[in-house]
Amino acid sequence: MDKLNVRPSMKIMSPLNLKLWLFILLGASGNAVATDGTTDIAKSYPKQYKTWEATQEQSEREDVLANNPRNVILWAGSSYAKEYHTPRGHQFAVADVSHTLRTGVAPKAGEKGLSASCWTCKTPDAPRLIGELGFEGYAAKNFTDLGSEIKNVVYCSDCHESGSEKLTLPRPHARDAMAKIHQPFEQQSATVQGAQVCGQCHVTYYFRPEKSNVVNIPWIFGNSADDIEKYYDTRRFYEWIHPISKTPMLKARHPEYEHWNRSKHAELGVTCVTCHMPEAIDENGKAFTNHKVDKAMPYFKSSCKGCHSSQEKMKQRLTNLKHEINAKAKDVEELLVKAHYEAKAAWVAGANWEQMNDAIMDIRHSQWRWDFAMSSHGIYAHNPEEGRQLLNKAIEQAKSARSSLSKILKQLKVEHVYYPDISSKAKAQQAVGIDEAELVLEKKAFIEEEINKHWDPVAQRGY
Ligand code: HEC
Ligand code: HEC
Ligand code: HEC
Ligand code: HEC
Repeated sequence: MDKLNVRPSMKIMSPLNLKLWLFILLGASGNAVATDGTTDIAKSYPKQYKTWEATQEQSEREDVLANNPRNVILWAGSSYAKEYHTPRGHQFAVADVSHTLRTGVAPKAGEKGLSASCWTCKTPDAPRLIGELGFEGYAAKNFTDLGSEIKNVVYCSDCHESGSEKLTLPRPHARDAMAKIHQPFEQQSATVQGAQVCGQCHVTYYFRPEKSNVVNIPWIFGNSADDIEKYYDTRRFYEWIHPISKTPMLKARHPEYEHWNRSKHAELGVTCVTCHMPEAIDENGKAFTNHKVDKAMPYFKSSCKGCHSSQEKMKQRLTNLKHEINAKAKDVEELLVKAHYEAKAAWVAGANWEQMNDAIMDIRHSQWRWDFAMSSHGIYAHNPEEGRQLLNKAIEQAKSARSSLSKILKQLKVEHVYYPDISSKAKAQQAVGIDEAELVLEKKAFIEEEINKHWDPVAQRGY
């Protein structure tokens, strides 16, 4: 495995680095240089540091595929069908991306493996490496080759300028994205800047295959599901070909910023920071920002209560919203699972692209909307109205796909469509040819040989 040697001190000092060193030598603050090359403010702000560290307490997470095996069919052919968990505390971000079956197995001989771009939203070492290697140079590296370079997890310098408490977006693609939707970071109020620092990572993205897999936030036409779909359709982009239905698929990923952006709360100036890291009071009665970024309901008293008086009523309201959204999502999923298999039956019976085009496009668009709603963690709380609209349209599109397919199947005299048993994760994975036990073994070997021997302990946290 080729080891990079690009520590800041090994390079010719840039004017910026020089300024930084002078700043430290002159003892302006007593701060140290962090391993990501920025001036570390942690020592100067113990309350923020301690609360930042405390996200380690949020170690619980759920297995999404076990909770809902339909996902395995919908994501068949993509690595999401192998393993997918709900998010947990920031302190686990590096370890979780290192340990999941989706990323981080040594590339097979002659294969390129996964792009280093998968590090981008886990660590301030990503913007450092982007600075050192160039955006494309960084993305062209293999994910595992940069593993030993990753020493920090979602840290001060991901949100604050080096050596200061001033907010910033160190990721160039995130700065560009905010400008694309006419919300350039520099021109925003401190409140919106707070949301945008979260929006560096809590947004949907894809890797640009024609540009060494650099991360891109596809907001050229705007950041709604329709706008992003238009962008992907115009570029005839797809992430993978679905092995069952042959649909060129799109994948949405945690579009929290997008949904919040259009919500009632955003209009009121209530941001991610208001709800997930609200103000706290220290033992001397002094206010500070609680950096234990957590679910929002634990903070009801310090964040919601000013506007929503009853915690019990809010709990009930959220439970109802969650049920409503999940029920609609289930309708889409059941329709789409059938549609994928009906398309397969049509192909097997000799259907051609001319016949199949409308149905396949409906599957693509329906699953995109479903994913854009459901891969956003907490849409029922962030923007339930958008969730309803997305899922209603996804239901319409999936029904339209099935009605086209039913005509094609009739024309082709297909009377029976095979739908496999997907009543558990194991059965669903078996249906799409995923051997979890084998993947786990491969992963275990990689963890023992590579992560445990050569990577920073931050990559083992929680394991
Ligand atoms: C995920 C983003 C994020 C990370 C990581 C982060 N901060 Fe902050 N920080 C914020 C936000 C947002 C605010 C609030 C800004 C506002 O509302 O004006 C803030 C405020 C502050 C402030 C101003 C005083 C206060 O409490 O409001 C200090 C000091 C600070 N952070 C220090 C740190 C330190 C030290 C670390 C690392 C241990 C850190 N931050 C990590 C986002 C972050
Ligand atoms: C550098 C990228 C990055 C930034 C910046 C970032 N996050 Fe995260 N966030 C993540 C990742 C990655 C996870 C999932 C970690 C895991 O599951 O291992 C996560 C998880 C979370 C969770 C789930 C916590 C839990 O215990 O369930 C919340 C809530 C959250 N982030 C909110 C925020 C907020 C609010 C901000 C801005 C103040 C923010 N994040 C900034 C990357 C980031
Ligand atoms: C009005 C308050 C509010 C705002 C604003 C808000 N959230 Fe949330 N968020 C919630 C609630 C409520 C949940 C559901 C989980 C809970 O707290 O019970 C949630 C869930 C989440 C989760 C999933 C946590 C998990 O473990 O399942 C993430 C991640 C998240 N929010 C990130 C963000 C980001 C990023 C923003 C800003 C772009 C944001 N939120 C804005 C209230 C809010
Ligand atoms: C600055 C005031 C304010 C704060 C703080 C606030 N909200 Fe709200 N919230 C509102 C208003 C106003 C509405 C719209 C009226 C309504 O539906 O109650 C709303 C609506 C909602 C809705 C319904 C959303 C919809 O579109 O139907 C939920 C859920 C919600 N809030 C949850 C929360 C939670 C949870 C918190 C704290 C983590 C919180 N809010 C903090 C003002 C606030």
